[in-house]
Amino acid sequence: MSLEKQLERIEKREYKVGILGLGYVGLPLMWTFHDANMPVIGFDVDQEKVDCIKSGTPYIKHLGEEMMSVLSSSDKCEATTDFSRMTEADSLLMCVPTPLDHHREPDMKYVTQTAETISKYLREGQLVILESTTYPGTTEDLIIPILEKGSGLKAGEDFYVAYSPEREDPGNPDFNTAKIPKVVGAHGEDALKLACAMYDTAIVQTVPVSDCKTAEAVKLTENIFRSINIALVNELKVIYHAMGIDVHEVLDAASTKPFGFMKFTPGPGLGGHCIPIDPFYLTWKAREVEHPTRFIELAGEINTDMPRYVMRRTLEALNTQKKALNGSNVLLIGLSYKPDVDDDRESPTYKLFELFRSMGAEISYYDPYVPKIKETREYPQFAGMQSVDWNEETVSGFDVVVISTNHTDIEYGELAKWSDLIVDTRNAMNGLPVKEGQVVKA
Ligand SMILES: NC(=O)c1ccc[n+]([C@@H]2O[C@H](COP(=O)([O-])OP(=O)(O)OC[C@H]3O[C@@H](n4cnc5c(N)ncnc54)[C@H](O)[C@@H]3O)[C@@H](O)[C@H]2O)c1
Repeated sequence: MSLEKQLERIEKREYKVGILGLGYVGLPLMWTFHDANMPVIGFDVDQEKVDCIKSGTPYIKHLGEEMMSVLSSSDKCEATTDFSRMTEADSLLMCVPTPLDHHREPDMKYVTQTAETISKYLREGQLVILESTTYPGTTEDLIIPILEKGSGLKAGEDFYVAYSPEREDPGNPDFNTAKIPKVVGAHGEDALKLACAMYDTAIVQTVPVSDCKTAEAVKLTENIFRSINIALVNELKVIYHAMGIDVHEVLDAASTKPFGFMKFTPGPGLGGHCIPIDPFYLTWKAREVEHPTRFIELAGEINTDMPRYVMRRTLEALNTQKKALNGSNVLLIGLSYKPDVDDDRESPTYKLFELFRSMGAEISYYDPYVPKIKETREYPQFAGMQSVDWNEETVSGFDVVVISTNHTDIEYGELAKWSDLIVDTRNAMNGLPVKEGQVVKA
């Protein structure tokens, strides 16, 4: 099919968008294209997710029930584990995980497995786009060879290839996928034209760049920028505390400057599937060009040390009440890595669990978004733990409460009434009436 014909199909909303990986990125993307009246077909190896889409059962809390019920009843949306149906799609967007392995190096197995599966069914004229975050060079040096080898087709001649990073910010009420400009780099002019035309149907703006590796670098740059700035305010937090200065007050005042300053917020450490991981994709790749990534490593060191800092502050806080951490009951509030989402991947709260337990403390948690802990690769020992109930009798029974994640629908005023000692890593108790020494910032 000619490029003109494909563009015409996009214009007429006949162009079927295939999405591989229906997690935090793939599901909202599916919704966004569906909302733009494009036919969509989603693929996942996880039968449970596919069943949820079919039955309209939410599996990502912040996305809400309405989205799932619309998708499940639509005749323009389908989800399946049958990858042979990829031939039906005009485009195939890969939204699969890109974690780090045990040596903190890129673990590309989900991406390569998905590319291998695509290569078995790839047909002429299809557009394959990688959306997963990755190091510069992945699309052209890793994906294209797999696709060409398995299919016998030639990229740029028989099929199109592009890279477009996902900038989803789960739980952000101001920006959903449709409202976030989409950077697109492609393998050749035609692929760029086609990919931009497809995204233009559903997304506020497309930002074309020269090639795939530039687009890959854009995404890493954004997340490296965040990691480094978070490390900076975390370091300032520790220094200012030693000087008797409240970092939150400093940052609030500094952010009144209308130019040249951007506010980042300190916390108990990094979490989620992006910021603690993505910068190290560049660290790994930069070795090839013999450049150390010193900023990235330093930020990693500072951010990784934050849970230990929180533990030290908790020890000091208990000490003021003549108590030891050993034998104390500690309640951690917030298991997800950021407010108002149910994503607990890489959450610093798990690190705090580990640290507190290693010091002999009894740990419990409260999180309305994560009522029960599922099996995770990094922390299998916490699987099955359940959130405690939110009431005075339960909460007042703990020696100390540590606020790790500040979900907005938690009643911090009640916490102030129920707990004698609160270690606040998120400034959640700011402005609430509390007793002298009751709240310790960390
Ligand atoms: N979560 C975020 O906020 C966010 C934001 C921007 C970018 N990203 C990037 O997007 C990518 C996906 O992240 P996510 O958070 O959506 O991950 P996720 O774990 O929520 O979802 C990934 C999905 O892919 C599925 N999957 C795994 N292997 C597969 C295969 N071979 N074929 C089909 N499906 C397969 C999994 O079952 C899962 O449902 C990552 O590269 C991540 O770094 C994530």
